[in-house]
Amino acid sequence: MIDDELITSAMDFNDDERILEPEKNSFDEVENVLRPKTMDGYVGQDKVKENLCVFMQAAKMRGESLDHVLLYGPPGLGKTTLAHIIANEMGTSIKITSGPAIEKSGDLAAILTNLNEGDVLFVDEIHRLNRNVEEILYPAMEDFSLDFIIGKGPSARNIQIPLKPFTLIGATTKAGLLSSPLRDRFGVICRLEMYSAEELSEIVRRSAKILGTEISYESSLELGKRSRGTPRIANRLLRRIRDFSLVSGHSEITLSDTVTALKRLEIDELGLDYIDIKILRSMAEKFGGGPVGLETIAATINEDAGTIEDVYEPYLLQLGFVARTPRGRVLTASGYKHINVKQPKKPQITFFDDDEDK
Ligand SMILES: Nc1ncnc2c1ncn2[C@@H]1O[C@H](COP(=O)(O)OP(=O)(O)O)[C@@H](O)[C@H]1O
Ligand SMILES: [Mg+2]
Repeated sequence: MIDDELITSAMDFNDDERILEPEKNSFDEVENVLRPKTMDGYVGQDKVKENLCVFMQAAKMRGESLDHVLLYGPPGLGKTTLAHIIANEMGTSIKITSGPAIEKSGDLAAILTNLNEGDVLFVDEIHRLNRNVEEILYPAMEDFSLDFIIGKGPSARNIQIPLKPFTLIGATTKAGLLSSPLRDRFGVICRLEMYSAEELSEIVRRSAKILGTEISYESSLELGKRSRGTPRIANRLLRRIRDFSLVSGHSEITLSDTVTALKRLEIDELGLDYIDIKILRSMAEKFGGGPVGLETIAATINEDAGTIEDVYEPYLLQLGFVARTPRGRVLTASGYKHINVKQPKKPQITFFDDDEDK
């Protein structure tokens, strides 16, 4: 007999901790435990891994530091993890900071002068560096030197301080927001892709092992299918389902535990939650399928436009439920089908103006 109340409380989740929001809880302890430490443990992203391995090996053979690396892609795909792995594989230490954390150019100068030879400096959310700070980075990345102007007017002097060679690893969800002088200074630019259901199921089985939980293959695959191509979400769902299975008295997470738990979490068979559905429905019901601007959708469903763009939209685009056009977002035929709404027949219109979502 399953105590329904017990299960409900095991499944009870705080609304602040939205399970599908891959950016929240970045200081999550369990997440750190689940991070693979080596390239071998890092599932998927084969192209990125292969290239990085070649560049790392070449740098080692030349006895140089690895070229600067830019990692970009939606949240939760493994950018931070990969930065740690690179430092580990290069046998160097990693210093971690982020764009918004560095307020003054002096802060960055202090970080840079404290790096040891070959160290990795990981700058998360690098698109959020302010311009003054960014300018310190240019000569630091290019020539390993800090260039300062001291004083004003005729007495101004240019001062250069040499730095030890280091590797900058920048991570961003918005490569488009990076200024081109900064982007151009990265020798290696890697775009992380969403993971397949099989890859996610492998990640889930690996995580289950670390957490000391048994999970059937079918359950891991089901979880893989419903995790929006994102390891962080797969791992989070695994932890929820593990609670559920435990309270149900099962020694292994079964497919029925998985399906029941996901139903309670209101996650559908493709991994969409109620906010995704709200987005799709509002596009269909309020805007005739679009084109509609992202800001307008956001205002209608009372969500933050940035969150929709970073967290929800990438997967809806990936599924082909939503498409981007110069005039805004449109709901596609498969989007209509998923929410079970009949797509209205529209006259063919060609749009020439381009005024949306710049
Ligand atoms: N390729 C991968 N293989 C195994 N686990 C991964 C992989 N990528 C990410 N993860 C897991 O997903 C979680 C989130 O990854 P993270 O590197 O923090 O993402 P990002 O920095 O891109 O937001 C981590 O706990 C990590 O264990
Ligand atoms: Mg990260």
